[in-house]
Amino acid sequence: MARGAFIVIEGLDRSGKTTQIAALYEHLISLGKKVEQIKFPDRTTAIGKMIDAYLKSQADIDDHAIHLLFSANRWESVSKILKLLEEGTTILCDRYAFSGIAFSASKGLPFDWCKTPDVGLPEPDMVLFLDVSPEVAQERGGYGEERYEKEEMQKRVREEFVRVRDCGGRSLRWEVVNAGRAKDQVELDIRNATQALFNGVEGPIRRLWA
Ligand code: TMP
Repeated sequence: MARGAFIVIEGLDRSGKTTQIAALYEHLISLGKKVEQIKFPDRTTAIGKMIDAYLKSQADIDDHAIHLLFSANRWESVSKILKLLEEGTTILCDRYAFSGIAFSASKGLPFDWCKTPDVGLPEPDMVLFLDVSPEVAQERGGYGEERYEKEEMQKRVREEFVRVRDCGGRSLRWEVVNAGRAKDQVELDIRNATQALFNGVEGPIRRLWA
């Protein structure tokens, strides 16, 4: 039996990730596929609660320490991710290690240092990067109240995402989707890009940057 596909959706805040994941999820369900949505940070765990307090500016945490907490928050989900994939369930994941590097590096932490704690995580079969300019994202009702939701920061993060893509390693499939267009057009592009994964993937789950 083919294992499930591991699909990660990345992008700036307000790039439409949540909407598009929900649309792809519904599409897969309508096709009778086994599919689960996950998201990082997972704010439900003890580590996730610390991250949540930090993002809401209720706690101040050193930049290095919060970076490691974001990574630990992914590692604590690894057994669940592997189990779902092995059972043949497709995973749609909202943010992953790529956000981890892009956001922390944009604050000035060394790029390679940022990458290290996530080396060895399950590697996605595809990363869809929803690309939108920070200006367009801002026009979509503005950023929220959380720590990083400011235009200047989002501009730097977008630049860091390009570096993250370029360090992806040979096997990583990274597709850029122009997310500055109408929702239905973006939805169609995402469906077309991911279609070949809907029946699962042959071969083992690779490890990120390992
Ligand atoms: P969210 O709005 O998708 O819940 O993400 C929360 C914020 O956390 C968002 O601004 C991106 C940021 N972030 C990091 O800084 N590092 C990470 O590893 C992840 C997953 C998100």
